[in-house]
Amino acid sequence: MPRDLATPLPQPVFNEGNITPDPTRFKVSHPSDTQQYKAIQNLLKKDTVGFETSRMAPDALFTLQDAYGPHGPEIISRIKAAKQLVFHAAGDTGASNEGKYGNERSVADQVTQDCRTADAASRAMFFFHLGDVVYDFGEAKYYYDQFYDPYRNYPGPIFAIPGNHDSFVIPNTPVGSAPLDTFVRNFCATTPTITPEAASLHRTAMTQPGVYFTLDAPFVRIIGLFSNALEDPGVISSEKGRWPGVPDVQLDFLAAQLARIKKEKYAGAVLLAMHHPPFSYAPPPKTPGTGGNHSGSPNMLAQIDTLCSQAGVYPHAVLSGHAHNYQRYSRIFTFGGKDIEVPFIVCGDAGHNVNTMVKARRGAPPQEPNFDTDVTYMESKTAAVKAKQLILKHYDDTNYGYLRITVDQSSLGIGFHQVGQSVPQSRVDMVTVDLKSHQVVGN
Ligand SMILES: [Fe+2]
Repeated sequence: MPRDLATPLPQPVFNEGNITPDPTRFKVSHPSDTQQYKAIQNLLKKDTVGFETSRMAPDALFTLQDAYGPHGPEIISRIKAAKQLVFHAAGDTGASNEGKYGNERSVADQVTQDCRTADAASRAMFFFHLGDVVYDFGEAKYYYDQFYDPYRNYPGPIFAIPGNHDSFVIPNTPVGSAPLDTFVRNFCATTPTITPEAASLHRTAMTQPGVYFTLDAPFVRIIGLFSNALEDPGVISSEKGRWPGVPDVQLDFLAAQLARIKKEKYAGAVLLAMHHPPFSYAPPPKTPGTGGNHSGSPNMLAQIDTLCSQAGVYPHAVLSGHAHNYQRYSRIFTFGGKDIEVPFIVCGDAGHNVNTMVKARRGAPPQEPNFDTDVTYMESKTAAVKAKQLILKHYDDTNYGYLRITVDQSSLGIGFHQVGQSVPQSRVDMVTVDLKSHQVVGN
């Protein structure tokens, strides 16, 4: 009997009852995108998108408990009893052709396996997707192959902020078929329904209040922003008329969330997440023969710095995707009269592609940076905080991977895991932040 897709279910569903073998082929073929890219190259630099204001008030919280539905209270009690919360995060999962499908599945399988094999206290309770779920441009017909099927056995909620590939509108897209409409149907539903994109699978649409939201879970708040549809840079507001199509609601939202943290004297970890990275590696000026891939987003960062300075609250770490590799920076700056160290982490290598940090230019070989390289030259001249130092602490630009994040009452630990090995051998980098002092400890 066909399912009535419009009927809300009494509780959310996150996975299938049975483990089934991995798909090896797409159900819907994905033609080559080379011609399409050529046609829209210029638009990717200028076509932003509008979006709906969140259903929730700017200072409201979307809770992990609510996302879990009737089982929420029990899940939250379990996390609190374990005295820690573990979750996954990564971006750029979608495979845009079958040749890439194995890479996407390798990450999806490993995070799924991690949930099944970890002991109860360190089992990941959700996946926070950092954007670019479906390539090339969030088409409804590709959601099954690129999202629902690879993650069909992941046993927890999957939250997401949209990336440029989930939002850029290709010319002549019919009304109602814009990628952000599809994203909203699948991630910002009002009730846990099964969407047409899930086809025969059972994961229900996530019930986020919008494309930007704050997830409140035990020990952590994750403030997620939508950094819009351009290839570069990330844009979270109209920037005083420079991007007239982008509403300014996210500035009010961020300000309200930071003010709430301050007012409540919130003692948990605060994470800020957006698809486009504030910092992405660029070689030192005048490096012969070397070019970077994606640039950072200095204007977006300046706006974030300004709002954080006004509120007197800075996140403990900033997470992004978009660049198809793993990069971890330490940004050291004076905030509220003392020096703090904030990890800025890029994790955009969860399936779509892995790109090297640098590429050859004019025939000369690329020069890869060392770990612990001072890259203060990447700090924006317009930075709205008193930046002292920016260090590229670690990176991985040859392996697919994801973040495994652990947070407890006093610290936040962010590990990068490569695919191909099991936890804990898969972890190749780790940073731990002391919540009270905003200092990186142990490394
Ligand atoms: Fe992206």
